[in-house]
Amino acid sequence: MRANDNKRSTPHRKRFGLPTLLFASVALAACSGDGAQSALDPQGPIARDIDELWDLVFVLATIVFVLVMIAFFVAIIRFRAKKGDDTEPVQVHGNNALEITWTILPAVILAVIAVPTVQGIFDIRGEPEGERLDIDVVGHQWWWEFTYPEYTDADGRVLTTANELHIPSGETVYLTMTSTDVIHSFWVPPLNGKRDVVPGNVSNLKLFADPGIENEDRGFGAGVIPGQCAEFCGLAHADMRLRVFVHSPADFEAWVASQLEPAQIPAEGTLAAAGYETFNLRCTACHAATVSGPEGVEVLGSTAFWPLPEALTATTEYAFAPNLTHFGGRTTFGGASFDNVREHLAQWLANPADLKPMDPDRNVISEGRILGMPNFGLSSQEIEGLIALLETWD
Ligand code: CUA
Repeated sequence: MRANDNKRSTPHRKRFGLPTLLFASVALAACSGDGAQSALDPQGPIARDIDELWDLVFVLATIVFVLVMIAFFVAIIRFRAKKGDDTEPVQVHGNNALEITWTILPAVILAVIAVPTVQGIFDIRGEPEGERLDIDVVGHQWWWEFTYPEYTDADGRVLTTANELHIPSGETVYLTMTSTDVIHSFWVPPLNGKRDVVPGNVSNLKLFADPGIENEDRGFGAGVIPGQCAEFCGLAHADMRLRVFVHSPADFEAWVASQLEPAQIPAEGTLAAAGYETFNLRCTACHAATVSGPEGVEVLGSTAFWPLPEALTATTEYAFAPNLTHFGGRTTFGGASFDNVREHLAQWLANPADLKPMDPDRNVISEGRILGMPNFGLSSQEIEGLIALLETWD
């Protein structure tokens, strides 16, 4: 019986060996540095430190692998049993010189790797000296909130945006991060390694994008670098993405100025005005927007919801949902997972959980727990109005 089984399993293995190899080579080809979200294609000095360390380890590991394989094949070919020769090989037990060598050599290799590793950890983790741009980051299930404490409008309202992080090139950016619910991890591979974002705790991360990155297009638009939440955080973890928009310092200042402008309350009788009514009725329970109309500038909805750890530079409370003052100017929404186009927006407003896996039925607003936007059963007319409104809020 057993012999039979073996006979059958041999051709089976042969049949699958080649396809497995082919599949592996195709799959592993995706690990090349061409992807925009790759740590092997660093776009700044911090990520370059990590990449160079990776290169060093890879070279050393390759040398070790090749040497071991050579020794292995020499041993099995040179010392295999020859036909008609049945002399017993020399029986050896222990070899002090050899054993000392293969203990000391790896220790030396690890020591060599440890020097740039420890140096790199201090470089990457250290608080930057000199000029820096501070940004507060709050991780939510399942989106990112970004606040710029240095930038406020005339009434002291702090610049707030979501999922799309805008930074100047050639400047150190210092993120102060926390989470409202579970552990997330902020990761923009071309700019730095990943860093956990922990509820009730504060962590920091430095970013620095090389000057000129704002002109380079790697498939997401000039100066755009994709990132991703890198810690499993529930249903929509895969759709908790982000994008970094790198600007020249002058363009960054222009972006800041535009973000500090309020959105306009639409003129009466327009489709957007109908959307504005729906917005006030449905959306302001969680979303906020700063608007300007006949009565002056006011904030719709509330931004003061839940206290955050004190160490955050300026943000003391987190929002339940993205601030929508400049929603129309964003290229994506829903955790930077969907292009900000009518088609996706209509689908989202009809039933958000259809587009992105979320669990809004378990929301408990009084406890500050939000697991996604609920289905409000909006009519197609209400949806059209909201889209018209959000398009004008760019
Ligand atoms: Cu947040 Cu995964």
